[in-house]
Amino acid sequence: MKIFLDTANIDEIRKGVEWGLVDGVTTNPSLMERAGVKDFAAAAKEILKVTPGPVSLEVVATDFSGMMKQAEKIAALGPNAVVKIPMTLDGLAAIKKLRERSIPVNCTLVFSPIQALFAAKSGAEYVSPFVGRLDDIAEDGMTLIEQIKTIFVNYDIQTKILVASVRNPVHVVRSALIGADIVTLPFDVLKKLPQHPKTDEGLARFLEDWNKIFPGGRFPL
Ligand code: E4P
Repeated sequence: MKIFLDTANIDEIRKGVEWGLVDGVTTNPSLMERAGVKDFAAAAKEILKVTPGPVSLEVVATDFSGMMKQAEKIAALGPNAVVKIPMTLDGLAAIKKLRERSIPVNCTLVFSPIQALFAAKSGAEYVSPFVGRLDDIAEDGMTLIEQIKTIFVNYDIQTKILVASVRNPVHVVRSALIGADIVTLPFDVLKKLPQHPKTDEGLARFLEDWNKIFPGGRFPL
């Protein structure tokens, strides 16, 4: 399962890349605002340069021709740019046209299995089901991932399932058990994943015992 970072904050992306944990990045207009982005082109180019894989950048037009114009500009920013298109009827038409032009699309704001199926049939390379926002309204977001996975397996659909709106490590474990292709994680969730209190406790005890033999933690080699 690939790990993407769900942020437009360049420092977080650099840190995640330094840890060797980041396969790609997803952004959206809210994340751009949160990162304090003023110059979209400059910020997008920097993220594309630093990220060792696909970077989703979202259109803000809602009509077909506006989406197409913005999508072409986004695609021209770099070879790893992926155009994020919302799941609407105009969005589906744009996804189909962009597919014909070999421009990769991440279909965003997916909340039902049928939306995912339609996005895939239109030619989206990625579908982004939002699990956390479904949990927020007392639905089980991960059930949606299971349903999409079943449908994609049934029809041998190659569109990748990119689990979005991830809020906690349990979302990540369940995504891996279901066999999702990608999870996109906020930076704080990424940081939490490799941590375990028993690891910290075990390490402290090893160092304490070592210090009894070699005071100051000296390493005698
Ligand atoms: C990423 O592609 C989505 O835009 C993002 O995960 C949404 O997350 P949120 O529901 O926490 O805003």
